[in-house]
Amino acid sequence: MLILKNVKKKFWDLKAVDNISFQIGDGEIVSLIGSNGAGKTTLVNLISGYLKPDEGTILFNDRDITQASAYNRIKWGVGRSFQIINLFENLSVLDNVRTPLFSKYGVIRRWFLPTSRYRKFTEQALEILRNFRLEEKRDALPKELSEGDRKILDIAVAFALKSRLLLLDEPTSGVATNDKFKVMDNIIAAIKKEGVSTLIIEHDMDIVSGYSDRVLVMHEGRLLTQGKPEEVMEDKEVRAHILGITD
Ligand SMILES: Nc1ncnc2c1ncn2[C@@H]1O[C@H](COP(=O)(O)OP(=O)(O)OP(=O)(O)O)[C@@H](O)[C@H]1O
Ligand SMILES: [Mg+2]
Repeated sequence: MLILKNVKKKFWDLKAVDNISFQIGDGEIVSLIGSNGAGKTTLVNLISGYLKPDEGTILFNDRDITQASAYNRIKWGVGRSFQIINLFENLSVLDNVRTPLFSKYGVIRRWFLPTSRYRKFTEQALEILRNFRLEEKRDALPKELSEGDRKILDIAVAFALKSRLLLLDEPTSGVATNDKFKVMDNIIAAIKKEGVSTLIIEHDMDIVSGYSDRVLVMHEGRLLTQGKPEEVMEDKEVRAHILGITD
C-alpha cells in the first residue's frame, strides 16, 4: 500500500534521507529505528507531505503522492501523529475525536444538524474511544489526562480521520518508562482491530521487538537493514551502531 523508491532529501549539504526504498503492506506494522539524527522524522515528513523529496517516488495505494499536498494525503488516508502532541486543549476528549469525524465527512457543525446525524458521529467517536480504552475519560480535557493517555488520544484523533496508514513519531516519548508498554499495548490493540498499516518511530528495541512485523533501521540517512525484529537484532552493524553492543 505504501512504496518508496529511491527517496532523497538534503538539507543544504546534509543528506538527511539518502536514497531510501521500502514498502509497507496492508495491515503491516513496521518499526523505524535509528540513532539520533538518522533521518527518521524527515522520512516520515516526506511520507506525510510535510516535506517534499528532492528525488524519488512515493506511491500510496497505487497513486503517485510524491508531490501531493499534506491535506490531500490526509484525505486519501495517510494519518500521522507528531513527536509533539497536537490536541485541542479546550475541547473534551470526546470532541477531540468527534470534530475530525465531522470535518472528514464535510459536515459543518450547525445547530440545525439533524439529531440522527449528530448521534451517528457521537457513536463513532465513542467506538474509537472504546477501542483505545479512553471511553471513561470522554468528558475530561486533554490537560487532565496522563502523558500516556494524551499520546493515545492523539493517535485516536488520527483514527478519526479514517487513516489507512498511520505514521507515529515516537508515540511513547515523554511517557514514564513503566507506562510505555501499557501505552504501546493500547495503541497496537486498536491498530490491529482496525487493520491499518502503521509505521512507528521508536528508539526502544525492547518495545519494538514485541509487536513489529518488520523493522527498518536507519543510520546517517541510509537504510542500514530491514527484517524481522529478531533478525535485525542479530545484525552486526545494527548491534554496533544502533544498540551500542560490541561483541
Ligand atoms: N528542517 C531542517 N533543516 C535543516 N536540517 C534538518 C532539518 N530537519 C532535520 N534536519 C537534520 O537532518 C538530520 C535528520 O534529522 P531527523 O530529525 O530526521 O532525525 P531523527 O532520526 O528523527 O532523529 P531523532 O531520533 O533525534 O528524532 C539531522 O542531522 C537534523 O539535524
Ligand atoms: Mg525524530
